[in-house]
Amino acid sequence: MAATKFKLNTGAEMPAVGFGTWQSNPGEVQAAVSYALQNGYRLVDCAYCYGNEDEVGQGLKEAFGSGAVKRDDVFIMTKAWATYNTRIEEGLDKSLKSLGLDYVDLYLIHWPVLLNPDGNHDKFPTLPDGSRDVIRDWNHVEAWKQMEALLSTGKVKAIGVCNYSKRYLEELLPHAKVVPAINQIENHPSLPQQEIVDLCREKGIHVVAYSPLGSTGSPLFGAEPVVKVAERRGVSPGTVLLSYHVARGSTVLAKSVTPARIKANLEIVPLDAEDMKLLDDYSAELTRKGELKRYVYPPFGVDFGFPDKS
Ligand SMILES: NC(=O)c1ccc[n+]([C@@H]2O[C@H](COP(=O)([O-])OP(=O)(O)OC[C@H]3O[C@@H](n4cnc5c(N)ncnc54)[C@H](OP(=O)(O)O)[C@@H]3O)[C@@H](O)[C@H]2O)c1
Repeated sequence: MAATKFKLNTGAEMPAVGFGTWQSNPGEVQAAVSYALQNGYRLVDCAYCYGNEDEVGQGLKEAFGSGAVKRDDVFIMTKAWATYNTRIEEGLDKSLKSLGLDYVDLYLIHWPVLLNPDGNHDKFPTLPDGSRDVIRDWNHVEAWKQMEALLSTGKVKAIGVCNYSKRYLEELLPHAKVVPAINQIENHPSLPQQEIVDLCREKGIHVVAYSPLGSTGSPLFGAEPVVKVAERRGVSPGTVLLSYHVARGSTVLAKSVTPARIKANLEIVPLDAEDMKLLDDYSAELTRKGELKRYVYPPFGVDFGFPDKS
């Protein structure tokens, strides 16, 4: 099935499948981005924090230079890192420079926490005891006000958030002049986060699922119901894990630096009610047993309001 697109609350369209760049190492990511764009991807997810935006930018340049795809045909998003949450435009300018772009299609708050902007490290400042140097007397709504101000600069087409729980969204929305276009969250059958997905749907915020394969080493490939649905459909477990989100009305981001996998991850198949029931029953069972699995949880020492972590 050709991957569909979803309409955002801005009126723009976002592809159903996107290309992730986290933990794509120097020496790998330029080729991976260029290959992905030349083989059908039209959505690329980046972040200042990933430390590879210079090379991602080289990959974009290579793909645009190949003639296979034009800048305006690709949806590119990046994120303000937590040390930049009081300097949102400065963070954006750094990313634009590295990526070699005049604008991004979407700019995101990466995590709703402030790490000390004057601390001992640009990205991961620490206190003498080694813990993260978090400024606790700070409200994430302040970052959103700065995000809203970006819309008049022409450097972003839209703004959104990442890692917002239901509680954080409920804190933000009464103060938001602009409703976030998306909420990018960890999402897969072992962490369905249905309460966030439902709230986002109600408020017109598109959900973008990250770490759909379980992140590093794709551990979710072996989950029993995933294998079962893969057998029913005659596809790989990866295709099931990615198609799950499209069936839920979400966009999904998968990362790979391996050409065959990059190509394979574009395959989305329709999942029927029985397939989804197998996956949803698995999620319900993990929830009941208190065994939901969150693979990405940086050690900020902050309660972000996720029920599995609160
Ligand atoms: N907003 C946030 O806070 C946040 C957090 C995490 C991730 N993200 C975004 O979401 C993207 C995806 O998440 P992720 O990188 O954590 O994990 P992921 O896409 O769930 O998994 C990536 C891992 O799966 C492997 N893999 C990929 N395709 C495969 C296939 N078809 N068969 C077997 N193995 C495969 C990759 O290996 P190889 O690369 O070696 O092929 C890599 O080890 C990120 O890259 C990033 O852009 C955002």
